[in-house]
Amino acid sequence: MKICKQRILLTLALVLVTSTLAQVFSFGKCPNVQVKQNFQLESYMGKWYENRRFFAIFEVFSSCVSANYSLKNDSHVRVINQGYIKFLKKNNVAIGDAYAPDANETAKLKVKFGNAPSGDYWVLDTDYDSYSIVYSCSTFVGFLKIEFAWILTRDRNGLSDAKIQELLQYMSSYDINVNRFAVTDQSNCPN
Ligand SMILES: *[C@@H]1O[C@H](CO)[C@@H](O)[C@H](O)[C@H]1NC(C)=O
Ligand SMILES: *[C@@H]1O[C@H](CO)[C@@H](O)[C@H](O)[C@H]1NC(C)=O
Ligand SMILES: *[C@@H]1O[C@H](CO)[C@@H](O)[C@H](O)[C@H]1NC(C)=O
Repeated sequence: MKICKQRILLTLALVLVTSTLAQVFSFGKCPNVQVKQNFQLESYMGKWYENRRFFAIFEVFSSCVSANYSLKNDSHVRVINQGYIKFLKKNNVAIGDAYAPDANETAKLKVKFGNAPSGDYWVLDTDYDSYSIVYSCSTFVGFLKIEFAWILTRDRNGLSDAKIQELLQYMSSYDINVNRFAVTDQSNCPN
């Protein structure tokens, strides 16, 4: 009986780990995406609300997620990310730095939080005053990829369904699997 119980626990643990990994990793190469042309960093500054996201371990259980971008100087951005973990009644704030290493690809930003390695933050499309599509993809050992994606909105209540559908279709056109999006809970937020 004891062994049986251990085996069940082990199986459960394995299922949990593999399903988490499956949400993070997938097979295949990163899609060849086009980023926003002539991206204007200054117009992008200010507050954005997370409308939906791909699974990200650093955001697990977070609702009410927002980002506030402000210029430090003409190339570096102060990033203030906020999230709220409802069942712990806990506000999380992460402060980072973003900039575009290549002056010819201003929509391909790198973001860094503390000592963590920097991550990609590519703006695929934005109109600066209602929505932004952010994407990042890296490949490992040739056939595994790890992807992050976000739709950010200026309005906490998001966008019209028609507009969301349009953005999802746009991402699908680059072979980004939009079924991986989970809508962010932006209700009853303390922040
Ligand atoms: C965003 O951050 C900047 C710089 O810290 C601050 O001045 C501004 O008030 C913040 N904006 C919002 C909407 O929180
Ligand atoms: C802008 O700010 C960043 C981060 O504080 C700094 O590393 C960089 O050297 C600054 N660039 C200029 C041109 O002042
Ligand atoms: C940016 O593009 C211009 C024109 O295509 C080119 O001359 C220049 O070398 C590029 N700069 C960098 C840093 O790649």
